[in-house]
Amino acid sequence: MNDPNGLVFFEGEYHLFYQYYPDSTVWGPMHWGHAVSPDLIHWKYLPIALYPDSLGYIFSGSAVVDATNSSGFGSVEKPPMVAIFTYHNPRLEKSGSNVFQNQGIAFSLDKGRTWTKYSGNPVLKNPGIRDFRDPKIFWNEKTKKWNLIIAVYDRVHIYSSANIKDWTFESEFGIGTGAHGGVWECPDLFPLKVNGADIKKWVMLVSINPGGPNSGSATQYFTGEFDGHKFVPDNTNTRWIDWGRDDYAGVTWSNIPASDGRRIFIGWMSNWKYATVVPTTVWRSATTIPRELSLVAENGKYLLISGPVHEFTKLRNESDSVNLKSQSFIGEKEISFDRISLMQCELLFDFGLSDNKVDSLGIILENNLKERFIVGYSSLQKQFYIDRKEAGNTGFSKEFAGVATAPYTAGTGLKLHLIVDASSVELFVDGGKLVMTSLVFPTEKFTKLILFSKGGNVLLSKAEFHGIEKIWP
Ligand code: FRU
Repeated sequence: MNDPNGLVFFEGEYHLFYQYYPDSTVWGPMHWGHAVSPDLIHWKYLPIALYPDSLGYIFSGSAVVDATNSSGFGSVEKPPMVAIFTYHNPRLEKSGSNVFQNQGIAFSLDKGRTWTKYSGNPVLKNPGIRDFRDPKIFWNEKTKKWNLIIAVYDRVHIYSSANIKDWTFESEFGIGTGAHGGVWECPDLFPLKVNGADIKKWVMLVSINPGGPNSGSATQYFTGEFDGHKFVPDNTNTRWIDWGRDDYAGVTWSNIPASDGRRIFIGWMSNWKYATVVPTTVWRSATTIPRELSLVAENGKYLLISGPVHEFTKLRNESDSVNLKSQSFIGEKEISFDRISLMQCELLFDFGLSDNKVDSLGIILENNLKERFIVGYSSLQKQFYIDRKEAGNTGFSKEFAGVATAPYTAGTGLKLHLIVDASSVELFVDGGKLVMTSLVFPTEKFTKLILFSKGGNVLLSKAEFHGIEKIWP
């Protein structure tokens, strides 16, 4: 699999479609795979939703519930789910044409179980640009119209429509703004309330490949204003939703009930630098944990923060949870947990940094082969780092081993939240102000947890360990 697609909530189910090639663990003719969940945590696979056809492979896109039946595919009583996606035509591509990516739609009247492609496809034709893909559709309350944001090589275009079939070009955004080390892909655009204030900003997500902060794929964001026609950014800075090397093409769910009100994001947990060669068999690639996005005002800017959805705590195994006592440490200190594995767990730490001689501190996950996965913070360099050089199998790609870094300035305390799975670690710092997602392939399970501090004493005021239950039957 790669990108998550068609994220939509409908009648008690979260739908997750995804870029899927059923015949191989290497990327090929794309389909939309399909899974549903009642709670964002427990998932059930459903049959493939969309197959390639004479117009092309089914690339990334999005889905909505058409409540007013503006498309005419259902009725107001039985509103259709409508998906919009990119048709990528390999035949045209090979022939040297520039117009091999066009947008098509499909609808479902049975809760996403079966889909009918629209006979008038494509609904949005390629204007003559090779990269024209990944439409994200959303209802605009202000203009009472649909909007669509689509990646167009090194920028995005915004369109509007009354019926999801006929689209009008509105505006372009991106030149001279944000990161441009690669092609823009998988955009999203949505309003989000600022925490603790009566202000709403619009947030634009844009994935970029390559050109991420730690090489390869990554997702940047902008905050600003949007009136249904034009997006005006607050500033032109480059900012990343996740500084790790393994969170790409993430977008958010549509149709979350107003009573819930969350903006929920999920990303593809890999990087095109090595996605097709990571050492997994039978399966390849997964998504991040679904994350709730929030905005906080900080130093005159709006910062996008993210953390695991609260439903995730349901997976904590109470009989396999430990609270460690408060203690201070310097050097390397092994915390002995009586565990046969640290591979499926959640770790929460609160560190006190009042000793200003501390140069760096962090956490090491280690196994019997002395393979180590290191999460560290350097107060000298004012940055976080994730070092997986000696964390196990890295030989499948020379791109994989490097150390990922992220600028960060800690206060007198630091909160780290790690979600560790069999081949991934998701790190959330200080409530999600910094996020780093990382794949890791240890040869044996990590069994030891080591804390380290260089230069001065660190106070560990809180440490929680939770075993995490399997989500599959
Ligand atoms: C991003 C991407 C999208 C495209 C899809 C194809 O990872 O390249 O731009 O629609 O993957 O699988």
